[in-house]
Amino acid sequence: MREYNQSEILTLRERVTADMSEKRARHTLAVEQMAARLAALYCPEKEQLLRVAALLHDVTKEWKTDRHVAFLQEKGVEVSALDVAAPKTLHARTAALLIPEEFAEYADSEVISAVRFHTTGREGMTLCEQIVYLADYIDESRTFPDCVTLRHAFWDAEPEKMPEDARREHLYRVLVQSFDMTIAGLLEDGAPVSPDTFCARNSLILQLRIEK
Ligand SMILES: [Fe+2]
Ligand SMILES: [Fe+2]
Repeated sequence: MREYNQSEILTLRERVTADMSEKRARHTLAVEQMAARLAALYCPEKEQLLRVAALLHDVTKEWKTDRHVAFLQEKGVEVSALDVAAPKTLHARTAALLIPEEFAEYADSEVISAVRFHTTGREGMTLCEQIVYLADYIDESRTFPDCVTLRHAFWDAEPEKMPEDARREHLYRVLVQSFDMTIAGLLEDGAPVSPDTFCARNSLILQLRIEK
């Protein structure tokens, strides 16, 4: 695992936020804080890595759809009609591809996969992927009702007081709740749902049953 020191994180924080709108920068810094809090509960040894992933997770979020599509095509990645119909998912893919080019000194495989799957999730998510995904959903800058509900669902249960197994199960349950809310919202809007989101939800449910 790659180690990141304080000064590398400070440099990245300044660099990333300098190119963002104020709103996006506020969200990015709040995701970094939330990822660090979650790391303290689940994997303190990965706190710095998770801060890096959080800082990088939305670096292409403010690109227009055309730019995402052009960048993906330039990289030889096929862009489907479904991708274009769900443009919010494109930035996770373009950010993951941009990191080795523009942020090569931070291009750890765990950072890249956490960025890549922070929007949709995927089957068999790693702990780093789960933490960045959840931090992005429940960071303190979010006021959307589902985000507030999920933030309470996670913290009001006082996971810091739970034994390790229960704390991990709690994480899985809150993640399932997040996928349920995401899928319900997309269905209500008549919007497409990424197959990765269904797979993420299903694999967590199976995981919870196996651990019973
Ligand atoms: Fe995002
Ligand atoms: Fe985000």
